[in-house]
Amino acid sequence: MRALLALREEHRQRREQLGKANIALEQAETSGRLVIEARHASYAWQDKPLIRDFSTRIMRGDRVGLIGPNGSGKTTLLNLLLGRLRPDTGEVRLGTKLEVAYFDQLRDQLDLERTVLDNVAGGREHIEINGQRRHVIGYLGDFLFTAQRVRSPVKSLSGGERNRLLLARLFSQPANLLVMDEPTNDLDLETLELLEELLLEYTGTLLLVSHDRTFLDNVVTSCLVFEGDGCIREYVGGYSDWLRQRPAASEPAPAVKPKPAVPPAPKSSKPAASGKLSYNERRELERLPARIEELEQRQRELHAATADPTFYKQEATIVTQRLEELRILEAELETAYGRWEELEARE
Ligand SMILES: Nc1ncnc2c1ncn2[C@@H]1O[C@H](COP(=O)(O)OP(=O)(O)O)[C@@H](O)[C@H]1O
Ligand SMILES: [Mg+2]
Repeated sequence: MRALLALREEHRQRREQLGKANIALEQAETSGRLVIEARHASYAWQDKPLIRDFSTRIMRGDRVGLIGPNGSGKTTLLNLLLGRLRPDTGEVRLGTKLEVAYFDQLRDQLDLERTVLDNVAGGREHIEINGQRRHVIGYLGDFLFTAQRVRSPVKSLSGGERNRLLLARLFSQPANLLVMDEPTNDLDLETLELLEELLLEYTGTLLLVSHDRTFLDNVVTSCLVFEGDGCIREYVGGYSDWLRQRPAASEPAPAVKPKPAVPPAPKSSKPAASGKLSYNERRELERLPARIEELEQRQRELHAATADPTFYKQEATIVTQRLEELRILEAELETAYGRWEELEARE
């Protein structure tokens, strides 16, 4: 019981700290009005058409969500839109004065041997955020790193801390086109809400891949949906708007399972807390299935990678990193399941 109370207190304090956090995403000079234009772009991977005759115009300030099952081609589309890949046919044109910040799905941008501080500021004491000079320790404090923690090497951080660090890094870069590929994977609720606030304040252009329905609903203004067989359609609004608008006849495979298969909670166990769910708990509960789905997907990928005979032939640091990530994922999944059962029991 004591432990539970301590946890709650910690949770409350963290929320307070986050409420006070005054983080503004560094915004670069505005880009040209037309940010990206695709005309009849098609792209196939090993004869499988991922993107078929896709046209769109993304204008400055658009906030676009990408929705689709795993493996449908969302990351590939991002690469095409950023000019990192060329379409097989058709064309993609990028606007002027674009400064892109990319939150990478693979998360291999962190230098594990170096400290939190070095990973963000590279030895500098001050960084510029929104035209203002800020002490880097203060800036990292906004992302819940204590002055002591910022001197720890990244390899000693938990999965959640690493994610906060990636966000801190991303938001310290000037950008007028922000690209996030499944950023909500293993973010805890506080960090997710912090990210949501940051994105709502952000006035640049946003491309966002996510399976998190609430997150998309809150953040994006239109969606590109992979409807199968390389067909991508554009819808105005968030995820829920897409669910309402999509034609019933051509239902795509759902991007998010309604609920993951969770072992039923043992009937004898009392819920950890009783009573109706609070607003925040309800939101947390809504998000949990998508989060579990994402964790499981990443877990499957890592399992597959580690099962590959060539896995242990890679550099030792990569092997250690992947195994560590898997371990952290498993712990996080365990926690997410526990929380899901607990909240579900009280609903
Ligand atoms: N460079 C590549 N190497 C291996 N597979 C690729 C590559 N590019 C695309 N693919 C394949 O194309 C499909 C779409 O991949 P991706 O764009 O990553 O999907 P998503 O981001 O929607 O999960 C997958 O089946 C993937 O294996
Ligand atoms: Mg992807």
